[in-house]
Amino acid sequence: MAEIRIRNTNERISGEENVGSFLAQQNVLYEHWDASKLPESLRGKYVLTDEEKELILSTYNEEIVEIAGRRGYKTWDIVALSEATPDIEALLKKFEQVHTHTEDEVRYIASGHGIFIIKGDEETGYFDVELEPGDVISVPEGQPHFFTLMEDRQIVAVRLFIEPAGWVASPYEDPAFIK
Ligand SMILES: [Fe+2]
Repeated sequence: MAEIRIRNTNERISGEENVGSFLAQQNVLYEHWDASKLPESLRGKYVLTDEEKELILSTYNEEIVEIAGRRGYKTWDIVALSEATPDIEALLKKFEQVHTHTEDEVRYIASGHGIFIIKGDEETGYFDVELEPGDVISVPEGQPHFFTLMEDRQIVAVRLFIEPAGWVASPYEDPAFIK
């Protein structure tokens, strides 16, 4: 279950209904898949072979095909990040810049945790969405955001794309961003 933190006020929002309605107001898609479907052999594993990545995709094939049909995703893959990832510090530094895309950024969290920092409406400002296994999130196209790891510094996620070639981050300079 995701948790929200509003950066301007430090207010926290938790609980399925509250988080769901907050994210719906901000046009952020938020759904759930069954985290317990992840094969036992892959639990707590953050360095994955191609075969293990394929196993995750086939485990969630039904969910992937359903959301792809509904929202137009044409391709998907697995991203795994942890302290074992080469150049993780440099990679995270690159991630931690507010940016936009011309398509939405959708993730299913299979293991570990991740956090999306998203620019909300005028009144709300920036907010964090802390994600855990089972959470599906989609940051709408054009909405300023960035993604990073949480305290456990590890994640395995499914990414879905409409057009991977067109999925390029455009930096978004924002003096209103609160670190
Ligand atoms: Fe992004």
